[in-house]
Amino acid sequence: MLFDLATIDPSLGYKLLVSTVTPRPIAWVVSQDGCGVLNAAPFSFFNAFSPDPPVVGIGVGRRQAGAAKDTRANIAESGEFVVNLVSEATAKAMNVTAIDFDPRTDELAEARLTTVPSVKVKPPRIAESPVAFECSLMQIVELGSYGLVLGRVLAIHIRDEAVIDPVKCYVNTPALGLIGRMHGSGWYARTTDLFEMPRLTVKDWAADQTPR
Ligand SMILES: Cc1cc2nc3c(=O)[nH]c(=O)nc-3n(C[C@H](O)[C@H](O)[C@H](O)COP(=O)(O)O)c2cc1C
Repeated sequence: MLFDLATIDPSLGYKLLVSTVTPRPIAWVVSQDGCGVLNAAPFSFFNAFSPDPPVVGIGVGRRQAGAAKDTRANIAESGEFVVNLVSEATAKAMNVTAIDFDPRTDELAEARLTTVPSVKVKPPRIAESPVAFECSLMQIVELGSYGLVLGRVLAIHIRDEAVIDPVKCYVNTPALGLIGRMHGSGWYARTTDLFEMPRLTVKDWAADQTPR
């Protein structure tokens, strides 16, 4: 079925995107306002975009009345944030931090999470997260009601048990137990159903061809 986005309401375009671009990794963003009040919220319009410079991007929408979400306002003000990744063990706490709390509420305290000081930026990371990226703001690209927040990754924390070789930077990715966001407002995926498919050279490909 063809959906012509020029002819349907933009809210339906949102539904089509989030129902099909799945699973999406979740950036669990910790930021801080000018008074030092901490904020945490999840964002699944998220991915890594470049290794050098190392850049991650987060699509942050607006509140219903059009005001900026606290995450965006804090990042625009301070220029710093931490992206924590979400494991199944932290899924419930992540969901608590998505509640539309008053800006003065510390979502991390509400979700009973522990923070650890960052080394390069002011906002702390979430101790319970297996991975955290300390980021500085590069740019906010305006995309209609959304803003694409591009952050330069300054430091990466990975839980010790999941690091196989710190020199070669080999990581036991399945041991991180990360989850992704699926369709609808409440579906998630585990990252446990894996299969392997090695990359092919031209020679491999040619050797695999049966005569047509
Ligand atoms: C798993 C999950 C993913 C989400 N992804 C996004 C997203 O990509 N962009 C967005 O604007 N809101 C997203 N939200 C909603 C925000 O987390 C929510 O609006 C939150 O209250 C914003 O908090 P803040 O005002 O403290 O920044 C998501 C919520 C959940 C539960």
